[in-house]
Amino acid sequence: MAAMGEGTTLFTGSGRLAVAQPHAAAAPATISPWGLLVGDGRIVWVGEPGDVPSEPDASEVVDLGSALVTPGLLDAHTHPLYAGDRSDEAASRLAGEPYTGGGILRTVVATRAAADDELVALARSRLIAELAAGTTAVECKSGYGLSTDEEVRALRLISRAADGLPIRVIRTFLGAHAVPAEAGSAREYAALVAEEMIPAVASEGLAEFCDVFCDRGFFSLEDAETVLGAARRAGLQLRMHADQLARTGAAELAVRLGVTSADHLEQLDGAGVAALAGSETVATLLPAPALVMRDHLPPARALLDAGVTVALASDANAGTFGGWGQMPLVIGLGATVLGMTVDESLIAATVGGAASLGLSLERGRFAPGLVADLVAWDAHHEGAFALQLGAVRPKRIWVGGREVELET
Ligand code: NIG
Ligand code: FE
Repeated sequence: MAAMGEGTTLFTGSGRLAVAQPHAAAAPATISPWGLLVGDGRIVWVGEPGDVPSEPDASEVVDLGSALVTPGLLDAHTHPLYAGDRSDEAASRLAGEPYTGGGILRTVVATRAAADDELVALARSRLIAELAAGTTAVECKSGYGLSTDEEVRALRLISRAADGLPIRVIRTFLGAHAVPAEAGSAREYAALVAEEMIPAVASEGLAEFCDVFCDRGFFSLEDAETVLGAARRAGLQLRMHADQLARTGAAELAVRLGVTSADHLEQLDGAGVAALAGSETVATLLPAPALVMRDHLPPARALLDAGVTVALASDANAGTFGGWGQMPLVIGLGATVLGMTVDESLIAATVGGAASLGLSLERGRFAPGLVADLVAWDAHHEGAFALQLGAVRPKRIWVGGREVELET
């Protein structure tokens, strides 16, 4: 047997290892008992413990006993950089008030008024909550600044908030989140986003993705194309808020533009499912805000049956779902209210989240070459995500092969 390399650790367990393969894969979803070899922060080998390809020193073995172990979760849709509190608005909406752009603009006022340090502290506490709940990679959008200076500030502060935290952050520029009070029209503002904000963001390397809230009362299909066309020319990857409030045809635009992910899709119909089925675009579904908004639920079952890659994400934000660190709940909701199996939900929060963020070759599965993000849960079976609906918590977490110190 070969000697173990520098920085090599063998993880073992008598319980269930959810290897997380894409939905269509024939490979088994779980291995039990299991072994997983990690070298230099990456997965080297995964399989039955008897087949381990090298003999480790005892000091390099971590036995996780009967705990359920999964890859680190990916939360592919969040809006963490904001100040203020809109709980009153949630209560009014549930009493019958409509959802309008006015809500986002309240958060814009509070966020513009907040000092850098305050925003960094707020966003950092939200990222820590995500990590403590087993999310090891998180997408973070701007979008509560809505001017060039404020959007650039938001993206810089997202990086500052994440500084030194062992969580992989993917930054998304969402200047086209709502039309600010000072803009003449959505079309004029979309032009400003395209011509001034995107070049500023791209020239400083402040974001990986560009997003647009393409929906009734926000940005039209034409505005979305203006914004995303400029983003593509600037070298940003693309994603969209699509068909959340009304069936506008945003899903078809997402497919035509070849965006990496179309998110929300609460109003999607059969034609929209068919459009996505013929594409590489990931459907990122967000059950939590749909429930808080008492909205339709997205057609998860139809999307999966049509072969679309589905991701589940939290959409934690200022106004439609305020829960941070709730990916275990989101997996439970996938299996209870979206009609997915528990396996499908877990895959959507790992493999699917990675696809949604363009990270399929980096994270989301236990496969050789990928980053070794592991979560050992206070549970023995993945069914606990449904049974406990939000109460499953990590016992231990590793990111890139290094254990994260959890405050208890
Ligand atoms: O994803 N849909 C648009 N944006 C957020 C809500 C933002 C807000 O209301 O502050 C969402 O649900
Ligand atoms: Fe959102």
